[in-house]
Amino acid sequence: MRKYLFVGNWKMHKTLRETEEYLGIFLDKLGDFKILDREIIIAPPFTSLALAAKLLKKTPLKLAAQNACWEERGAFTGEISPVMLKEVEVRYVILGHSERRHLFGETDEIIAKRVFGVYKFGLIPILCVGETLEERKAGKTLEVVERQLREDLKYLQEIKGEDLVIAYEPVWAIGTGINATPFQAEEVQSFIRKKLSEIYSFEVAKKVRILYGGSVTPENIEELMKEPNIDGVLVGGASLEAEKFFKICISQIKKGEPR
Ligand code: 13P
Repeated sequence: MRKYLFVGNWKMHKTLRETEEYLGIFLDKLGDFKILDREIIIAPPFTSLALAAKLLKKTPLKLAAQNACWEERGAFTGEISPVMLKEVEVRYVILGHSERRHLFGETDEIIAKRVFGVYKFGLIPILCVGETLEERKAGKTLEVVERQLREDLKYLQEIKGEDLVIAYEPVWAIGTGINATPFQAEEVQSFIRKKLSEIYSFEVAKKVRILYGGSVTPENIEELMKEPNIDGVLVGGASLEAEKFFKICISQIKKGEPR
């Protein structure tokens, strides 16, 4: 019922030349592959978006941005507006990524404004939430995730469900080679869906896609995707090589029973 979502977050990687080379390889591999049950999304740096939009025209791949402002225009040095992103065919925006929160000090208030802002202009927010290792060790995982959800979604009151994506990215799993086990991810992701049904409704929560992110590889993707509340993945390091990301994107999906 929910269309699977495979998102490659390139972070601060790839020049224009590298973008062109990567997409050439990826599209070549994709060929006539049927990907009807899933969406594949690339989130390159801002500077590569216009080129990527041109290269991805008439292909099933879609584009995400890695951040966005809440205003259409104005004195916001260093920011990019949702309207500018729409001009280069962007459909999704990653927001509240742990690197934005922890390296650049973005607060839940700022993230909440971004989430509502991009939504208002017709883009789909991919809101990232997740606990640090200290928070997990202190048994605070669910508390932290609930707080982030409630605060970051507070301005987003009326949604349909298909128009929001949540990514559970435990900070300790990002770029470390230590992924959350499918059990750990499912535990938090089923909790996220429960909270979404409290914040919105059961009907809406059923339609929101919840991704897992943190050291996803071609080796662990199939185990992770068995979980009923893992609707896709947000991939960093392993999305930087076209062949690797392709393997992830075409993986077999066999859903298991709810735990
Ligand atoms: P890695 O896949 O490199 O762990 O990064 C995850 C991530 O932060 C995706 O947004």
